[in-house]
Amino acid sequence: MFSFLNKDQATGEVTERQLDEQNIPAHIAIIMDGNGRWAQQRHLPRIAGHKQGMNTVKTVAKAASHLGVKVLTLYAFSTENWKRPSTEVNYLMKLPVDFFGTFVPDLVKNNIRVKVMGYTDQLPAATQKAVRDAIADTADCTGMVLNFALNYGGRAELVTATQQLAAQVQAGQLAPTDITADMLGQQLMTGDLAELADPDLLIRTSGEERLSNFMLWQVAYSEFVFMQEHWPDFDQATLEQAIYTYQQRHRRFGGLNPATDTTKN
Ligand code: FPP
Repeated sequence: MFSFLNKDQATGEVTERQLDEQNIPAHIAIIMDGNGRWAQQRHLPRIAGHKQGMNTVKTVAKAASHLGVKVLTLYAFSTENWKRPSTEVNYLMKLPVDFFGTFVPDLVKNNIRVKVMGYTDQLPAATQKAVRDAIADTADCTGMVLNFALNYGGRAELVTATQQLAAQVQAGQLAPTDITADMLGQQLMTGDLAELADPDLLIRTSGEERLSNFMLWQVAYSEFVFMQEHWPDFDQATLEQAIYTYQQRHRRFGGLNPATDTTKN
């Protein structure tokens, strides 16, 4: 059991709680929202929020790894984020260079392997190199996978996967009626994560309650936890609170929970 101080989101009341070590979500995905609002509240430029958000990534990656999380997926840049002002986009593109340039030794020390999903060929050359180097430098790590969604979009991912299956059909390698959900899942950018591809827990910070085109297929049975904290304020305690909330849920995957649900004849 891990002990932690739980802060009730509605009342602010702090109580000591226990996390069940046997029920840590294997895959946690986070929509890291609120960097801009965090900065605006401090009369700072939006990019100051992103910089602080990058430091939060370091804290949360280590905390998740220590708790026994197997995959931590972070939504760092969406296929729609190019619509932002170019100064902000340019800054966001430099962040992985800064992040991996300073943090890879810590990742290796914590046995954390870097993975990136998204249309990385559209990123600036320096960003692509930082990503490639980080993946290579952590390739032998066998602990948690730190999976960055970078220039990622759920709809685009599904379109690409569909195109790949359609090409197999056109080549006569596959009949349309033989396509299964598993096959489609394998074509997605999480296909290499195999049984860990689908998040158990999806967290979104900053009070917003929407998916914003994130992992549309993979979150079919994820538990959603929405938190008020802006991403730069997120820390180990907030992560533990989210996991605690997850542990109070009863996952049924479309079936019934034999302990609580009565069956109808
Ligand atoms: C959403 O907040 C956040 C982003 C679009 C960028 C997230 C990026 C980071 C947290 C840094 C990533 C670090 C690495 C290592 C790649 P927002 O800007 O939409 O906030 P707002 O809704 O308050 O304006």
